[in-house]
Amino acid sequence: MKTHTPSLPAVSFGRRPHLLAPLLLCCLLLAVPARAADPAPQIKPCVACHSVERICRNVDKGDAFWTKTVKRMIANGAHVGPDQVPGLVALLANPDHDKVREILNCPSPDSLKTSAAAVPTAVILAHPILMILTLLLALWVTWQGVNRARFSHFKQKTAFNWKGHTRYGLVVMGLWLAGAVGGSIVSDMLHGIPDAYELHEGMAAVMLWLIAFGGLSGLYMDRKKAKRTLLPILHGAANLLLLLLALGQLVTGLVILGRLLAA
Ligand code: HEC
Repeated sequence: MKTHTPSLPAVSFGRRPHLLAPLLLCCLLLAVPARAADPAPQIKPCVACHSVERICRNVDKGDAFWTKTVKRMIANGAHVGPDQVPGLVALLANPDHDKVREILNCPSPDSLKTSAAAVPTAVILAHPILMILTLLLALWVTWQGVNRARFSHFKQKTAFNWKGHTRYGLVVMGLWLAGAVGGSIVSDMLHGIPDAYELHEGMAAVMLWLIAFGGLSGLYMDRKKAKRTLLPILHGAANLLLLLLALGQLVTGLVILGRLLAA
């Protein structure tokens, strides 16, 4: 028995879909270096792992907190020599909090409000709306991939829409890359970004690698059709992980959106 599969309208990249590969890579290169911050020189070693906002949130803490925290950060791997610790603690624990904020180049406490107001709501909404639609398409592509795996590994009779899986898979990858570029542009426009952003950005960075692998391995299998075992498994595993991350992005993204709209 054939399982019923809804089909999507055909799109075509012409007869040479592999030409999309360099495009994928270009987008990837474009997206990665986006959003370079310029922290105060003294705290350069402190922004290697997290944003300055994490430090800014604690400027009202005293000497004891900073001594303990800086030591813990060094244990975490911060490149701060023992001779630099007292100076750094003195800088961070300075009771003149406004001065510390100024040195650290902290976003002002209500900058989320001002920056969210400065960016049109349509621009803020464009990224989440596009990404939610992309996620729906990704679910369809995944379903096709699962059908394929059921056929090749469990010998179950399923309908696999090869062309649809390849084409819409590439559309999803392309939209995700565009989403990474668009998301980092919007976050640059918003100077004070909510906490959840760090995780959202971190997951996006991991997704870029998986997109490159998932897209290129898919294109390769489409171009050079052959009986394979390992590559389809790797392709499927990487893309399932990608889908999980995309679901995580949905959650963190909605948190960010909620905070921006509430600001
Ligand atoms: C090697 C990565 C790394 C570097 C470099 C780093 N941090 Fe952190 N930082 C972390 C991690 C991971 C956490 C969360 C876990 C924790 O609090 O230990 C964190 C948390 C923090 C927090 C929140 C602590 C709390 O109790 O809420 C502050 C403040 C902070 N870091 C300040 C700094 C300062 C100041 C520096 C520079 C001396 C620095 N970090 C350098 C990894 C790093």
